[in-house]
Amino acid sequence: MREQLEQLKNEALLSVNAAGQIEQLQEIRVRLLGRKGELTALMKGLGALSAEERPVVGQLVNSVRDEIESALESASAMARERAKTERLQSERIDVTLPGRCTSTGTKHPVSLVIEEVCDIFAGLGFSVAEGPEIEHDWYNFEALNFPPEHPARDMQDTFFVENNLLLRTHTSPVQIRTMLKQKPPLRIIAPGTVYRCDSDATHSPMFHQIEGLMVDTGITFGDLKGILTVFTNQLFGQKTGVRLRPSFFPFTEPSAEVDIACVICGGQGCRVCKNSGWLEILGAGMVDPEVYRHVNYDAENISGFAFGMGIERIAMLKYGISDMRLLFENDVRFLRQF
Ligand code: PHE
Repeated sequence: MREQLEQLKNEALLSVNAAGQIEQLQEIRVRLLGRKGELTALMKGLGALSAEERPVVGQLVNSVRDEIESALESASAMARERAKTERLQSERIDVTLPGRCTSTGTKHPVSLVIEEVCDIFAGLGFSVAEGPEIEHDWYNFEALNFPPEHPARDMQDTFFVENNLLLRTHTSPVQIRTMLKQKPPLRIIAPGTVYRCDSDATHSPMFHQIEGLMVDTGITFGDLKGILTVFTNQLFGQKTGVRLRPSFFPFTEPSAEVDIACVICGGQGCRVCKNSGWLEILGAGMVDPEVYRHVNYDAENISGFAFGMGIERIAMLKYGISDMRLLFENDVRFLRQF
């Protein structure tokens, strides 16, 4: 029996050493030490031994079992370690590989123009003001000297909401809201969305305007022309010609339409400027005293000017965009170019 034990032990250690994987070691454990294992079977033979031999061989069985156990234990630890190293190797990440780029978007040309115009006017001491897009008739029309039934209201193709509410047709109501809140001197620029029932290659039912308003003592038409010249020069490049033509708005008197020399042909005449050499870019004028009356300003002692321009039109001229609808379709192939 001693010999059998010795042999079993030697064979066991050999096969443990030869086994490389956890599963194999598991099998060996079951085959030798399990309930139906070889060592267990040998132990059954203990009963046949004499009383003196039994404890001695019993001890031997125990020590053989311990030896096999510990061999299995350390072989398993090594196998686990090896498996782990192999896994780490196969899953290795090369941190020096270049990463995957997330593509960043670009700013919409309308936003670019709003930012640039606001920046230019910030440099001239103007601060940004805002107002609601759903507006009262009173702010959008009446306080701006469009009395009810006045024919000038027809120029604006208004979307009505209900009763006296409408979608603002221009940013000029921000003038009224600001003057009701603040006393002169005043210098504001008001960018925002406006709405008119009109839609073709150069008109959109929703578009953007920037309003300007400057009120102080002694402001003249010369100041208006000076500020607008500085502005157009900065926006379109030095020495862009500026021309003012008489016009009409209910809330300014006198009023003017402001043209710049055509940015496409430089004033020679082309399709974009309809061969005139000039492009209309904004409306302007001296604030009508009737407007001051509505906001409780003292029309005798102060004066000021206002102007308003369509952002989409400026973006089209600045970036050479031929159809306004491109600005609202949000085709990324178009937007990516800015
Ligand atoms: N609000 C006018 C428009 O939308 C533009 C304008 C603003 C004209 C301020 C004069 C002064 O047509």
